Amino acid sequence: MQTVEFTRMQDGTREEYEFLDRMEEEYATGLVDRIIDHLRRLEHSISGYRISRLEHCLQGATRAVRAGESDEYVVAVLLHDIGDELATFSHSEMAAAILRPFVSERLYWIVKHHGVFQMYYYAHHCGGDRNARERYRDHAWYQDAIDFCHNYDQNCFDPDYDSESLEFFDPILRRVIARPRFDDPEQVARYGESAD
Ligand SMILES: [Fe+2]
Ligand SMILES: [Fe+2]
Repeated sequence: MQTVEFTRMQDGTREEYEFLDRMEEEYATGLVDRIIDHLRRLEHSISGYRISRLEHCLQGATRAVRAGESDEYVVAVLLHDIGDELATFSHSEMAAAILRPFVSERLYWIVKHHGVFQMYYYAHHCGGDRNARERYRDHAWYQDAIDFCHNYDQNCFDPDYDSESLEFFDPILRRVIARPRFDDPEQVARYGESAD
C-alpha cells in the first residue's frame, strides 16, 4: 500500500489505519531532526539583540548543563524559544506543547509561562506590567519559573559567553525526546495508559 484509498476518514478500513499508524511511527522517528532543523532557523529570526535566538538558546542550555541541571531541564531551556518564528505572539505555549510529552508537568508549566515571567525584566520600559507573574504567586511552581528565567533566560544575551554547539546537545535531545509519556488525556484516549 502506497497510500490509503479513502477521502473521508469515516470510510477508512482497519488495514488502512494500521498502515497509517506505521507511517506515523516512522515519521515520529524524525522528530529530533526536525527540532534541530528548526532550532537552526533561529539563527535568522528576531534581530536587534547582540546574539541570535539560536545563540541565546544555546547559551541558556549551556548554563543549565554547567549548573548540573537534568537532561530534561537542559532540553526545556534549549527549546524554550523555538516557537518564536511561527508562534510570534504565543511562543511560550508552542515550546511547551512540543515539550509536553517528554518532560515533567513542572517543566511544561515553567516553559508555558516563561513569557509572562520574563516580563519582569522589561515590561516596565514599554508600558507593560512587569509584575504580571504575580497572578501565579500561589502556584507551586512560581519560584521555579522565576529561577528558570533568572538563571537561564534573561541573562543569556552575552556575545562573549562560550556556549556549547548545537551538536553538543544532540545526544541530550535524543535521550529526552525519545518516547512520549502517555499521560495527557488526548494521548491516553488514543494510545491507552502506557506506551509499553
Ligand atoms: Fe521566550
Ligand atoms: Fe528566551
